Amino acid sequence: MAEIKKANGLIDWLDQRIAIRTLTKVLMTEYWVPKNINFLWAMGVVLLVLFTMLFVSGLFLLMYYKPDTNLAFNSVNYTIMTEVAYGWLWRNIHAVSASMVFLIIYIHMFVGIYYGSYKKGREIIWISGMLLFVLFSAEAFSGYMLPWGQMSYWAAVVITNLFGGIPFIGPDVVEWIRGDYSVADATLTRFFMLHVCLLPVLILSVIALHFYTLRVPHVNNEEGEHLDFELEAKKYMEGQKKESKVIPFWPAFLSKDIFVVFIFLTLFFFLVCYNYGFALDPINFDPADNLKTPAHIYPEWYFLWSYEILRGFFFSADFGLAMFGLANVIFFLLPFLDRSHVVDPAHKRPAFFIWFVLLLVDMIVLTIFGKLPPEGANVWVGFGASVIFIGLFIMLPLITRCEKGGVK
Ligand code: HEM
Repeated sequence: MAEIKKANGLIDWLDQRIAIRTLTKVLMTEYWVPKNINFLWAMGVVLLVLFTMLFVSGLFLLMYYKPDTNLAFNSVNYTIMTEVAYGWLWRNIHAVSASMVFLIIYIHMFVGIYYGSYKKGREIIWISGMLLFVLFSAEAFSGYMLPWGQMSYWAAVVITNLFGGIPFIGPDVVEWIRGDYSVADATLTRFFMLHVCLLPVLILSVIALHFYTLRVPHVNNEEGEHLDFELEAKKYMEGQKKESKVIPFWPAFLSKDIFVVFIFLTLFFFLVCYNYGFALDPINFDPADNLKTPAHIYPEWYFLWSYEILRGFFFSADFGLAMFGLANVIFFLLPFLDRSHVVDPAHKRPAFFIWFVLLLVDMIVLTIFGKLPPEGANVWVGFGASVIFIGLFIMLPLITRCEKGGVK
C-alpha cells in the first residue's frame, strides 16, 4: 500500500484511497471524442437521461402500485392518478419516457446505420446496443401489463401465445411463462418482478458494457475518418487545440450534449404536461376482462413494425411467427451482413443509401399498417412491406460486396 500522507482537502483524501484523480482522467478529462460529430451523437446521452427518468419515476410509482390482479388497476388509475399528490405527474413522466426512449433508440440506431458505426472494429458496440434494444422491449412489454387494463391483459395473452408456435415444446413454454394455464395473477406477479428487478439490473449492466465497448474503437465521426487518437490527444494536451481532431469528453463534449439534452427536455415536459395522451392507450383505461376481447388488439407504436411482419404473412401463422422472430434478431447481424469495410456516411455510398432509405420508409409503412385492422387492401400492403423488409436484409450482402472495400 502506498504511504498515506496528510490530505490536502477532501479530493486529495479520496485520491490517496481510491485514485479519484486517475478515474476522472480515464473517464472524463482524458477520454477523447472526435470533434467532427453533430447533434445526433448526443442521442446516447439523451437515452441515458431518459433511462434515469424512467428509473426515478418508476420508484415513485412503486410506492403505491399493487401487483395483484384484484388491486392493480385501481392502484394505478385511482390511487396514483387521483389520490397521491403529483401521482399523475410521475405516471405521465413514466409513460412519456417509455415512448420517447424508443423514438430516441430508433434515431440512435439509424444514425449508427447511416454513418456505418457498426463496422469492423465496432461490432461489439453494435451488438451490446442491440442487447439494450431487446432488454428495453422486454421492459416495455412487462411494464405495459402492470396497470392490468384491457390492453395489458390482451397484449399479454397474444404475446405469450406466440411462444406456443415453438415446435414440440411450445404449449409447455407458454404455461411456464404464464405460471398458469391462462394469463392470471401468477403472470402479473412474475412480470412485475421482471419489470422492477431483473430487467433494470440487466439494463444497467449492459449500459455499462455498451459504454466500455466504446473505449477501444472510440466513437465514429461524420466522415468515418480513421483517427489516431493518441496522436490527436497529444496535440490537444500540448496546447494545439485547434489543430487537434479530438476534444475531451468533459467538459468540451458533454457541454454540447447537455445543450441538446435541455432542448430535448423542453419538448419532453411539454408532452408530459399537455400531450401525454399519445403514451397511454384509451382502451387500457378499462379494467382487464377475460370475457371481453377488444375489437382490435395492437401493441404500442414502437412494436408495430414487427407486429405487422407477424401478421403480414397471413397465409401461414407459423411462417409469420418465424419471420417475426427473424425480424427481431436480424439487426444483430448487420455488422456481418454489410460486406464493405469502408466506413463512410450513407450519402457517399449510393447503393447503400438507397437501401437505407428503403429500410426507413418500409419500417414506417409497417408501423402505420400495424395499427390498422387487417382487412381489405391493408392485408396486401402489410404482406408487401414484410416481404420488402426481409428482402432488404437478404440483399444487403450482395449490394455491399460490390461497393469499394467490399469483401467477396
Ligand atoms: C438505452 C440504451 C442506450 C444508451 C444509453 C446508449 C448510449 C450510447 C452512448 C452514450 C454512445 C456514445 C455517443 C453517441 O454516439 O451517442 C453510444 C454509441 C453507440 N451506440 Fe448506443 N446506447 C443505447 C442503445 C443503443 C442501441 C439500441 C444501439 C443499436 C443497436 C446502439 C448502438 C450504438 C453505436 C453503434 C454507437 C457508436 C456510435 C459511433 O461510434 O458513432 N446503442 N451509445
